[in-house]
Amino acid sequence: MTVHVSQHPLVAHKLTKIRDAGTEPKKFRELIREISALLTYEATEDLEVAAVRVATPLVETDGTTLAETVGLVPILRAGLGMVEGVWELMPSAEVWHIGLYRDEETFRPVEYYNKLPVEPTVALCLVLDPMLATGGSAVATVDILKRWGVARIKFVGLIGAPEGISNMEQEHPDVSIYLAAVDDHLNDRAFIVPGLGDAGDRQFGTA
Ligand code: PRP
Repeated sequence: MTVHVSQHPLVAHKLTKIRDAGTEPKKFRELIREISALLTYEATEDLEVAAVRVATPLVETDGTTLAETVGLVPILRAGLGMVEGVWELMPSAEVWHIGLYRDEETFRPVEYYNKLPVEPTVALCLVLDPMLATGGSAVATVDILKRWGVARIKFVGLIGAPEGISNMEQEHPDVSIYLAAVDDHLNDRAFIVPGLGDAGDRQFGTA
């Protein structure tokens, strides 16, 4: 498995703003969108392409087109805010929502929404969730996607904890992880420290 931590100054700058407890939900949502787009740019560098011909106003020339169907898989709720940013870059991507919440006592993910059709419709899935804390939600989502039959899966998130990264490494070593930062540790409520708080609550104003 590879863990890519963005080294881009724009990502670092925006991540610092999104960590700030004083950043209100409107700005928070804007930052999630922007960081997600920047990370997706990095996560899609190996997308399959095909050669096409294109007619410019002057001549016909060689061109390139994306050759695989991509599925965006936001984990509800917090992953929702990432979709718009990624969609800006790949408007034809399909979006398949997975609903999981983390039990407050056990920290284990509980599934509450999954409407995947029987047969897989995409070749590559980008799992979207800002926080990789214990990794339970990401592992469960990748389990679901593998059972669905998706061949290639990547995880795109904002902040990862070492615990979550190890968990994914152990359970799904074939899934590459793209992050804006790897933080220090989880606290006793399994929140990422220093982190940015609860990404769902901060986006939706429900804190
Ligand atoms: C949070 C977060 C991730 C998950 C990460 O979701 O948005 O989905 O926990 O934790 P894990 O890596 O330990 O599984 P939460 O349960 O708060 O739901 P929400 O997004 O609806 O707020």
